[in-house]
Amino acid sequence: MPDTEHPLITRYREFSPSSQTIAERARSVFPGGDTRSSAHYGPYPLAIEHARGAVLTDADGHELLDFMNNFTSLIHGHAHPGVVTAVREQVGRGSAYAAPSTSQIELAELIADRVPSIEQLRFTSSGTEGTLMAIRAARAATGRQKLMKMEGGYHGSYEQAEVSLAPLPGLRGELSAPISTAFDASFPDSVLADTVICPYNEPQLARNLIDAHANELAAVIVEPILGSMGMLAATTEFLQTLRDATQRHGIILIFDEVITLRVNSGGAQATHGVTPDMTCMGKIIGGGLPVGGVGGRQELMQLFSPDQEQPVMHASTFSGNALTMTAGLAAMQAYTASEAQRINDLGSRLREGFNQVFQQAGVRGQATGTGSLSNLHFTDRFLHDARDSLDGMIAAGHIPSLLHLTMLRHGVMSATRLMFCTSTAMDESTVDRAVTALAESLSEMRPFIESERPELLI
Ligand SMILES: Cc1ncc(COP(=O)(O)O)c(C=O)c1O
Repeated sequence: MPDTEHPLITRYREFSPSSQTIAERARSVFPGGDTRSSAHYGPYPLAIEHARGAVLTDADGHELLDFMNNFTSLIHGHAHPGVVTAVREQVGRGSAYAAPSTSQIELAELIADRVPSIEQLRFTSSGTEGTLMAIRAARAATGRQKLMKMEGGYHGSYEQAEVSLAPLPGLRGELSAPISTAFDASFPDSVLADTVICPYNEPQLARNLIDAHANELAAVIVEPILGSMGMLAATTEFLQTLRDATQRHGIILIFDEVITLRVNSGGAQATHGVTPDMTCMGKIIGGGLPVGGVGGRQELMQLFSPDQEQPVMHASTFSGNALTMTAGLAAMQAYTASEAQRINDLGSRLREGFNQVFQQAGVRGQATGTGSLSNLHFTDRFLHDARDSLDGMIAAGHIPSLLHLTMLRHGVMSATRLMFCTSTAMDESTVDRAVTALAESLSEMRPFIESERPELLI
């Protein structure tokens, strides 16, 4: 332990000795002690032993309310009885056939019934693969090369999906023509050159950029809620502008609803009344097992058809996997419109509670979000786009990550970036306990905020 360790980190270590031991063991086989960058945080993550409903149990036996839900994918929390029964029955009948099965078709029919833009779809093994296949289909459909993505948008684990994910001041250029920036040292220059970056929630600027690049753009991809940059919702005007401009130039509009499919049974596109050409999915449609998907109008999806002379290649060993399909079908059947409404209402209650706590504590902060999806920010400025969100994060320094660790000790798990989502395993009392945990955590942190970031106090 370093001599100068922050007292809140020391308290976290004292709280979680078994997780620390597990983390030390993990360091010998995993770089940095983890097999998944997004789930990692310092000094080490809590190791989880088991979970049920909204409750996680860590290696030291603490029970934590799970507002992370595997990055929004567990719409019913953990071990939902319907999903457990379906998976148990299926695993005894085999897990992967490399052949059609009715569970694939049933889940596809349910999704096509609910999501306005989807007439046909393909399952994939991850959301990453879903967005990749959508972009490939768009190139094949248009004969053009470039992709427009939003500044701060995240579409998976490959270079083009991460261009300008974190638009740092000094590197990002003017808002009217953002620069394509690499997220790490692995990005080929060709990918940066093939990606046009659009500012989020700026209809006029988006229209100008689409018009300027129209001849080279195969697709525009957008998240209806900017997830990785702190749950900032697009306006209907912005999405409608993208729809109109892409339609005018024959560019494929892709909605990445990997996260937002949970906010409405028809996805965010149903809420906004804006229908894209293609929709990418993931997370909740797998019932907790690895999954992704891409869907759209039949004529576009035919690009993948084996009947075509030269279909867009889509192989993927685990696509349409029998266990995933069974789990996904059980989960989606149980995710009715009324359950979606109920957990969206719980999300609103959570944000209201969190916002009150910030006010009462005299700390500059706010909860953003839509429906079941929320994020905390240490700023009271209005947050409109990725730049606002990132600038707020940078100005708050280490305070957000210390709050995350402190909330864990107060019994609430969120993502390190302070993303919270509700699940059907929760009720109002679950939400109220999270609000209390924020109040307790800010009160414990107050002396440190006072001495380390006094500008965050009102
Ligand atoms: C909006 C969005 N698109 C795509 C992905 C990639 O999905 P996966 O992690 O399943 O590959 C994610 C993952 O968090 C996401 O949030």
